[in-house]
Amino acid sequence: MHDILPGETEKWQHAEKIILETVRLFNYRELRTPVIEERALFERSIGSESDIISKEMYTFQDRKGRNLALRPEGTASVVRAFNESGMQEARKVSRLYYYGPMFRYDRPQKGRYRQFYQFGVELLGGRSPLYDAEVIEILDTIMKNLETGGHYFGVNTLGCPDCRERYAGKIKSYLLSVSEKLCQDCRTRMERSPLRILDCKNASCKEQIRDIPSIREILCAECSEHFGLLAGCLDRKGIPYKVMDNLVRGLDYYTKTVFEVFRSGDDNAVAAGGRYDTLVSQLGGADTPAVGFAIGMERLITVMESPLPEVPALYLVCMGSGARDAGAGIASGLRMRGITVETDYDDVPLKAAMKMADRAGVKWCAILGDREMERGVVLLKNMSTGVQEEIAAASFITKAVERVKP
Ligand code: HAM
Repeated sequence: MHDILPGETEKWQHAEKIILETVRLFNYRELRTPVIEERALFERSIGSESDIISKEMYTFQDRKGRNLALRPEGTASVVRAFNESGMQEARKVSRLYYYGPMFRYDRPQKGRYRQFYQFGVELLGGRSPLYDAEVIEILDTIMKNLETGGHYFGVNTLGCPDCRERYAGKIKSYLLSVSEKLCQDCRTRMERSPLRILDCKNASCKEQIRDIPSIREILCAECSEHFGLLAGCLDRKGIPYKVMDNLVRGLDYYTKTVFEVFRSGDDNAVAAGGRYDTLVSQLGGADTPAVGFAIGMERLITVMESPLPEVPALYLVCMGSGARDAGAGIASGLRMRGITVETDYDDVPLKAAMKMADRAGVKWCAILGDREMERGVVLLKNMSTGVQEEIAAASFITKAVERVKP
């Protein structure tokens, strides 16, 4: 778990602003759910065999002995809220987004934290592959607008539950023939989640499954058409993608499309998602197809371009107690007119104060000392040209606003 310090928070705020502007263009609306949920919600949706459930959840009992968990992801909570709220009846397609901390007892390493932030988008009620393309386009737009220096999507299909079962049966015999050479984890996955073997990072496992048949060879007509239409749509939109046979995702609720987005040259996915057509009904709602993704904010922050640092517009230097009182009033007046003012109320010599103003990177400096007080003026200095102006105190705020905000 980590702190996000000033200097970094500006980058976060910039990313949040761009993301919000983007999802609003697609008319997504925010949903806020609690950080704590019933543990069973995640077990039922993510799947008890997954790493998240078997190794990574923060679980505990409350004072009444209820089994709870800190949420490891947002999709299950969104679906729970969707089912409980009756949102489904109100709109045919619900476009939702959420933002907040998630918790996983992951092995800490680069890009992996135990508390991390996700910005997620979920579209519920849309069956067409055009909806898959819509959420992918949102992510593509965000990556472009944050100047991540080139990215691409990995895309695959896991088919419907029938296709998946057929495929699992087909690869099981293949995997059994090479089981001796698979890692211990993969050997245990063989029975209950053979598809997970496809994304094992172990070099020997990768070598053994190099020629394993692709799921696309056995898809039913509907799943095959869905994937073909999505690919055509991504081509027309000019979204960069590669079909990745080994992209299977670590959560059980996916059906058909799955995808991840990578910064070119990087292995860690910045964001990931897919379609989950059976989850809403599995959690007690009506049959509702759905698709979405979540961005790992820490990962996005490391790959995006830094925004230009924001500096206060004006530094106010006051010398003497009378000047400090008058200066505090001037600072309030300027701030009310939208000007960011920095000042301090210690007795600092003019030279040192000007040095501080310079270090703060401000373009303007207002100076008020005993001499200025006596004459009823305030000095306004343009720090880049060095030109200094004397302005009557009574009209200083109006004049300063004109100069600072031309
Ligand atoms: P996920 O792949 O588990 O999917 O997480 C999505 C993203 O969260 C990852 O691509 C990564 O950027 C980030 N992430 C995951 N674990 C960590 C970690 N320990 N530290 C830092 N970042 C991390 C989901 O969570 C699905 N709910 C996505 C989704 C939404 N599918 C459909 N709708």
